[in-house]
Amino acid sequence: MCGIVGFTGVQQAAPILLEGLKKLEYRGYDSAGIAVMSDRSISVNKCKGRIARLCEKTGDGTDVKGTTGIGHTRWATHGAPTEENAHPHLSNDGRFAIVHNGIIENYLSLREELTADGYRFESETDTEVIVHLIEMYYRGDMRDALIRTTNRLSGSYALGVICTEEPGKIYAVREASPLIIGVGAGENYFASDVTALVSHTRNVIYLEDGEFAELSTDSIGVFDVLGHEINKKITRVMWDVQAAEKGGYEHFMLKEIIEQPAAVKATIAPRIRDGKVFFEELDMSYDDLRDIRKIVITACGSAYYAGCSGRYALERLCRIPVEIELASELRYNNPLIDEHTLLIVISQSGETADTIAAMRECKARGASTLAIVNVVGSTIAKLADHTIYTWAGPEIAVATTKGYTTQVAVLYMLSVYFSDLLGITEDEKPYVRALQELPRAIQQAIDMNPSVRPLAKKYHRSSALFFIGRNTDYAVALEGALKMKEISYLHAEAYAAGELKHGTIALIDEHQPVIALCCNPAIMEKTLSNIVEVKSRGAEVLALTFRNNHKILSVADDLLFIPDIDPVFSAVVEIVPLQLLAYYVAKENGCDIDKPKNLAKSVTVE
Ligand code: F6R
Repeated sequence: MCGIVGFTGVQQAAPILLEGLKKLEYRGYDSAGIAVMSDRSISVNKCKGRIARLCEKTGDGTDVKGTTGIGHTRWATHGAPTEENAHPHLSNDGRFAIVHNGIIENYLSLREELTADGYRFESETDTEVIVHLIEMYYRGDMRDALIRTTNRLSGSYALGVICTEEPGKIYAVREASPLIIGVGAGENYFASDVTALVSHTRNVIYLEDGEFAELSTDSIGVFDVLGHEINKKITRVMWDVQAAEKGGYEHFMLKEIIEQPAAVKATIAPRIRDGKVFFEELDMSYDDLRDIRKIVITACGSAYYAGCSGRYALERLCRIPVEIELASELRYNNPLIDEHTLLIVISQSGETADTIAAMRECKARGASTLAIVNVVGSTIAKLADHTIYTWAGPEIAVATTKGYTTQVAVLYMLSVYFSDLLGITEDEKPYVRALQELPRAIQQAIDMNPSVRPLAKKYHRSSALFFIGRNTDYAVALEGALKMKEISYLHAEAYAAGELKHGTIALIDEHQPVIALCCNPAIMEKTLSNIVEVKSRGAEVLALTFRNNHKILSVADDLLFIPDIDPVFSAVVEIVPLQLLAYYVAKENGCDIDKPKNLAKSVTVE
């Protein structure tokens, strides 16, 4: 999704803005631009396509004079990805430039009004109304103009603004779209994402909805909707620059797959003491849980599939009914949610618009909310009654890997923790030991599958891949198929293995390889019969199973393995060979693995 950067200091702004925009490339975009102020005029450079083109156009920024500016990567919503629609947008008098993330819902009526008042529109975007409103309301006081402008807007917006009448100043406004200030020495920054800031400073201020900021080289003022100055806390970001760089790997995705043992360990280990799981951040007691009649999990995409996997452990260990709903569906379902519901919200970015909307809907119905989030200080983390952070570190590849596995790991831990609080598990020690084993088991799943690369060569030309499995294996199949689709563009579908014979088996023939997940000994025989069914219709079968599963060895054509682990917690390990398979298939297909087409890392529009 769109990205914003802003800089004011004594150095030339454009190279810094371009470098910041490159750090945001991973979020997905289709055009980019910068606006830099010098000698009371603003120069704008924009282009369709990659930032590399903008760098070519501006000599890596060195051709653009000025030490104050804003930049943007756009992911088209209103209007095609063209140079005209790319941000920054200028006011008609050329005194103001703005960049915008989010959607202005009432832009059509504002556009009509502004057109009638004589303002000329150069783009099809919703954003352009904002810069004309600022021009209309500016009477020598930028803060006043921003307050008047934002009073007219409905929707979501993070804004970066510069004005030739206010040299050396950059303005940031936040409403339902993230914006973070980077506190430097003799220079200050803002960005929509902390990854654009960490190479300059790790001291940041998180803006809240309804707040705006005025930054100069040596001052930062943050104000509320009425213009009253607010004292804001400076937070130290724990991520370092290396964590957001490739570190010798060809792709972020591969690096992040390999980082999973460490990420899962960082998520689990600090929360285990004396053979028990503790969530100090939860502050929950038996009394809080006693009245919970059901748990509802909501999320989007892979985070939703993490919920599908975690649900089994929660129901099995806590004996509380668990429903799982796509966030984009839940809010329109008039959901049966009340104060006896615990809503678990899962989101790597903490900024997914559909998830936020579903969460707000459920909160309004009285649900207690618990968020599982990776990005510290994100909107979902702040909205929730309780927040558990997954300590995965920055995830840059668009396709989530360590984000997903750490989410599932937290759900596993929650199931042990709740079960203990409710007094259900007599002895949780074996579960806690199994949790502690997970980082090592993930490492083994990486090490024991050297065949994944040759298998990718074998299967990458297939027209489609079917992923099948039962129970927890089915939940992992869903995520495995999504990984395959989104980065390799190979059509992949996941089916509950028992459902094949109810329709889908009609598609199976010698041209449709089947990836069969068979990691749970208790239901292995059932999946085995599905493997035999598809084999007898000519399909080649690549089975993912536990070591020494001789029955599968004799039936499947190819094999991937996981080490022996407790099947209740196996999803975080099972997914790893499938992530690697998707990665190498995408590589064989020559795909842009870290930035798949049409996708964005953080989906901040509904
Ligand atoms: C797939 C993927 C997406 C996200 C989904 C939710 O690899 O990354 O499906 O899982 O967009 O994003 P978050 O977790 O940030 O809410």
